[in-house]
Amino acid sequence: MPRIAVLPSTVADQIAAGEVVERPASAVKELVENALDAGATALDVEVEDGGRALIRVSDDGTGMDAEDARLALARHATSKIRQAGDLVGVASYGFRGEALPAIASVSRLELLTAVEDGSATLVRAAAGAVEDVTEGSRRRGTTVAVRQLFFNTPARRKFLRSARSEWRAIADTLVTVALARRDVRIRVTSDGREALVVAPAPTLRARVASIWGGEFAERFLDVDGVSGPIRVCGIVERPGDVGVASRRAFVMVNGRPVRDTGIARAVESAYRSTLPAGLRPSFVLELTVPADEVDVNVHPAKAEVRFHNRWVVERTVERIVQTALGTGDAAPWIGRGWSPGLPGAEAASGALDTLPAVRATDDMPDDGLFHPGEQSTRAPGETAIAAAGVVVPPLVQLRRMYLMYEHDQGVVLIDQHSAHERVLYERFLGVVQDGGAPSQRLLFPETVHLSPADADAYEANADLFARLGYEIEDFGGHTVVVQAVPTPHPRFDALQCLRESLAALSGTRHTAVHARHEHLAATVACKAAVKAGDLLAPDEMRALFRALAATALPAHDVHGRTTIVRLSWDELDRRFGRR
Ligand SMILES: Nc1ncnc2c1ncn2[C@@H]1O[C@H](COP(=O)(O)OP(=O)(O)O)[C@@H](O)[C@H]1O
Ligand SMILES: [Mg+2]
Repeated sequence: MPRIAVLPSTVADQIAAGEVVERPASAVKELVENALDAGATALDVEVEDGGRALIRVSDDGTGMDAEDARLALARHATSKIRQAGDLVGVASYGFRGEALPAIASVSRLELLTAVEDGSATLVRAAAGAVEDVTEGSRRRGTTVAVRQLFFNTPARRKFLRSARSEWRAIADTLVTVALARRDVRIRVTSDGREALVVAPAPTLRARVASIWGGEFAERFLDVDGVSGPIRVCGIVERPGDVGVASRRAFVMVNGRPVRDTGIARAVESAYRSTLPAGLRPSFVLELTVPADEVDVNVHPAKAEVRFHNRWVVERTVERIVQTALGTGDAAPWIGRGWSPGLPGAEAASGALDTLPAVRATDDMPDDGLFHPGEQSTRAPGETAIAAAGVVVPPLVQLRRMYLMYEHDQGVVLIDQHSAHERVLYERFLGVVQDGGAPSQRLLFPETVHLSPADADAYEANADLFARLGYEIEDFGGHTVVVQAVPTPHPRFDALQCLRESLAALSGTRHTAVHARHEHLAATVACKAAVKAGDLLAPDEMRALFRALAATALPAHDVHGRTTIVRLSWDELDRRFGRR
């Protein structure tokens, strides 16, 4: 008597269902993807009781004839691939031929489908067994209704969460679809109430506006970059707008929504030094990579992909996002009107927007106070402004705190301390990594007594202070003698900066080398920068402006505060009743 038996297909389907249909949201995802694969331009989704009582997805796609309608419920029945080789670069969402049979095996399912307006086929099944096939009528397209999900698998039903939380998961799924396919009209109702209605949108930003509102859409910067065969485009949140709540992160790879913590981390590292610890930016990014660089068949619900060269993909994402964060447009606006669906509105406020434009270098001599420093190591293109030279507009200092100037689209304010901090941070990070900071011997070496904590901080960072240009002898017993100091600008008070930096550094330990470098550069930059309250001479203001424009991330200081705020003419005109 053999002990091994091949399982009946209904049992096999139920087992597969465990992987494909975890919960109502996964059924919704599969049904919607089938509709999109059938070329739908409009989707109607109805949900009752968080999808537990009913999920109905209707589309205006190609529909199926009677024979296909019956076959669609059979395991491994698919119209999308014919052989294993077709998996490379497969463009349809589905290809495994498991979803419909899996869903059918754990529900009561009705499939009504027509290849042209008029006569349709109606297939009814329960627990995976076809009960009857009859004629019906319908416009071209398909409706799949799934009732009583998991009615025949009580163990699975027990794992369902409350209707509310199942509905939330469904809504997330549908929002993901709406972002991935902004060409499709989508209408969603939950328990008879309209939950999401979106028309085809010309841009991702417009789609975001119709899902979460125009104000939310305004928080984002456009990203669009190509590196080798990889393209990254989409929108990322302005660092200054990143808040504690409502973070939304979406990644599409070749049109397929995926969960990918690696890419999310790459995006976050692009924000490094523009966000306080713990804040995470929202973003929607679409990656286009060569079909043979990515394997989509590694997850039953196709929610994950495998990259052949993940490191390259992640670094590319990081670099392209950081380039977007480095544009003047990364600074927040006060009251700039948002106009849905006008791509021109974004184009007009593009890259060199805030720190304006280019052409001839202002030939004011640089007085050295904020001299842009040594050789830039950044690649050309990343610093278009620096490379081309900056026209410095007339600047006014307000409250010994802000620099103000006029721009095409409004008034721009720069926080002098934050701006200088950004300038010095990028310069210090360079010398902390590579050395080579100019330093000056003191005529009279200074003896500095340190508290035990500060002495520890010094010991932990002695090598980096040396690279910054400090020449310090450690006499033990918490006393050091400073022989030479860096000279980043004439107002710089080297000893005070040393003391304040050590006080700020004490108590923090970083194990990763880059984290230690960044932390030190940020701390020293903060202490070394001009303060609020410092009166700046006109040529100092110009030099600061020019140096800021030459940084990689001019719009943000190293604590995640904005360095630039823009007040739009629109807003002023509104306030003065001019419109
Ligand atoms: N909404 C639909 N419109 C047209 N055809 C559909 C629809 N849903 C399913 N089908 C057909 O049924 C087949 C089986 O669907 P499914 O089990 O999800 O497998 P897969 O999507 O992996 O091919 C599909 O290949 C497709 O031909
Ligand atoms: Mg499918």
